[in-house]
Amino acid sequence: MRKIKIFDTTLRDGEQAPDYKMSKEGKIVIAKKLDEMRVDVIEAGFAGSNIKDSETIKDIAKNVKNTIVVSLSRCKESEIDVAYEAVKDAVKPGIHVFIATSDIHIKDKLHSTREEVIEIVRRCVSYAKGKCEYIEFSLEDATRTDKDYACKVIDTAIEAGANVINIPDTVGFITPIEFTEFLTYIKGHSRINEVEMSVLCHNDLGLATSNTMTAIRCGANQVECTVNGIGERAGNTALEQVVAVLKTRGDLFQAYTDIDTKKIKDISDTVIEVTGNPVQKNYPVVGLNAFRHEAGIHQDGIIKNPETYEIMNPVDYGVDVDGIVLGIHSGKSAFIRKIISMGYNPEHYDIYEVVRLSKSFFEENDSITDEEFSEILSNAQKKVLVKA
Ligand code: KIV
Repeated sequence: MRKIKIFDTTLRDGEQAPDYKMSKEGKIVIAKKLDEMRVDVIEAGFAGSNIKDSETIKDIAKNVKNTIVVSLSRCKESEIDVAYEAVKDAVKPGIHVFIATSDIHIKDKLHSTREEVIEIVRRCVSYAKGKCEYIEFSLEDATRTDKDYACKVIDTAIEAGANVINIPDTVGFITPIEFTEFLTYIKGHSRINEVEMSVLCHNDLGLATSNTMTAIRCGANQVECTVNGIGERAGNTALEQVVAVLKTRGDLFQAYTDIDTKKIKDISDTVIEVTGNPVQKNYPVVGLNAFRHEAGIHQDGIIKNPETYEIMNPVDYGVDVDGIVLGIHSGKSAFIRKIISMGYNPEHYDIYEVVRLSKSFFEENDSITDEEFSEILSNAQKKVLVKA
């Protein structure tokens, strides 16, 4: 079994999404919780982007006890200086340097050339390495980069001292089949095997988690993700999804993470509170309905053996929920369970009448209180036959 490192960028890429601003205090709370749940790397922000970010990173660096704390930085010496100043008090500081490598970004955004970018990478990665031992280098828009050129950039960054090479799918464009081809090619044609290989996948086509799992199959030993999948546009790979896949299907991937999964629901709730943005009800692992069942056939299965319809145990993810929800689709088993949970004997009631009355109640209502259900029960009591 291989360990997969979790690099969390909730506080950087996550916050870059419109309407996801986080307070300094909120970020520190999240960082401490990420540390406690044993994330391997926390990207605390982008120090060069604004003063508030650099001040917040400094405070996070002082508060995190075990995890590597990095700041993002463009390939500019002055920005690398600011990034290092922000993280230098961390127990384990790091700098995450990046530059775009696809032709469209080099030409239309950077107004540069492939050759110039190689020289910038050489200069800036070695400059960062002169300040800090732990350097991650990212090829922005890697998945739209010519693969032979990507290999040259990777080798340059490794020669200059990068410990980790990150291959981001910046625009969420690649598919798992193509990602396999791309990663296999660079593994065979560059020195990437000498360092850690990381991936960061965006979710524009809804493929972020699939692409990340594909990368793990291709040998990535670090994955970048955010709590609740927040991030630019459609977001990033969700931390809770990757961790859950590896916990549930570790046999297939022959890999695991160090994450304390019981803390996942709590950190998800914290990110919801700090950003003011909920996750949808049907969201994997932490969504309200992830472990709730209203349909009669499913409820019957769950009551007999939860594994009939649940591939994960909610308790493993810190989720505390009554999975059986009464509604118009519910059946006999769920109503009997409800009667017992209220302290009554189901044999005293005509269960078919309970189901009939409840279903007609749910035609007009979404949920039912104990008082309302008691009323139904009193109308469905079995008649006691008195012998003459
Ligand atoms: O999506 C991306 O490419 C990034 C880089 C800055 C690492 O966030």
